[in-house]
Amino acid sequence: MNKLLTILSDGEYHSGEELGKFLGISRTAIWKQIQKIDALGLAVESQKGCGYRIAGGLDLLVQELIRNQLSATAQELLVNLDLESSVTSTNELARRQAENGDASGLVVFAEQQTCGRGRRGRQWVSPYGCNLYLSLVWGFEGGVQAIEGLSLAVGVAVLRGLKRWGVEGVELKWPNDLLWQKRKVGGILLEVIGDPSGFCQVVIGIGINVGMPDKYSQSIDQGWANLNHLLVGNVGRSDIGGSIVDEVLLLLGNYHEEGFSGCREEWLEHDAYVDSPVKLLMMNKSMKGIARGVDESGGLKLEVDGEIQIFSGGEISLRGVA
Ligand code: BTN
Repeated sequence: MNKLLTILSDGEYHSGEELGKFLGISRTAIWKQIQKIDALGLAVESQKGCGYRIAGGLDLLVQELIRNQLSATAQELLVNLDLESSVTSTNELARRQAENGDASGLVVFAEQQTCGRGRRGRQWVSPYGCNLYLSLVWGFEGGVQAIEGLSLAVGVAVLRGLKRWGVEGVELKWPNDLLWQKRKVGGILLEVIGDPSGFCQVVIGIGINVGMPDKYSQSIDQGWANLNHLLVGNVGRSDIGGSIVDEVLLLLGNYHEEGFSGCREEWLEHDAYVDSPVKLLMMNKSMKGIARGVDESGGLKLEVDGEIQIFSGGEISLRGVA
């Protein structure tokens, strides 16, 4: 099916006969594969006398194009670049590898996630071939202390990657959402495996809405936006994915030395809610206050009744208050 998808990715009509000859299979076998492509949510049009096409074409991920964006340092840090077609969740795949041993330097991309995971147990809507879903694994000596502020720092690294393509106006929402005009363009999910006081591995999952079709709107339970209209020039998903991997690997390679302090200023410059009224949603309570940026460890500074309180932890979510 992947070969057929690659042919149809040009958006042109291809007859069943031509496809059958090219792939060395019968027209019935082609038709069966077309059904599978349809089942991925990709609308294949069929026209008598013309054949099949995917209107508008597809921008499929390409290893070489991703690698082209990697600096020499990132190429050294990258151990394995895995491109998958359909997975439950790239975080789950990466996590399984990390549970089997040191998987530091592994990067997994997928065209589709059938059980994409978001923060706080939410679903991450992940249709085929239109957005970016990737996970990186990195090992840290020194346990959870060594990764303080990492989820915020990854947000900064992703922003750096996007800026290479002329993207402006994307902001960060604590702890690590990427927003455009207060609508979600991307999210980051960190999972830690191993010894919380010794060697641990972090699975860093990144999802970016690049060209999410409108038909998925009703499945997304918050305001969202696509990146594609913010890109300058003809930029593909592999280019964007590659620049994100580059920036995240560079960040990870230095994190044991620099920590969050190397990114804090940049994070504050892109803070979507600085000095704004916000509400923090916690496990079983919520709290209102004014957001006042983040401290040296990446904790949120919330002003409540004139006093600054610091909040940290993956299970807290921030909302703007109108
Ligand atoms: C959030 O809720 O904001 C975090 C979303 C993280 C989504 C990414 S997509 C790649 C990786 N695999 C997953 O299942 N989730 C993360």
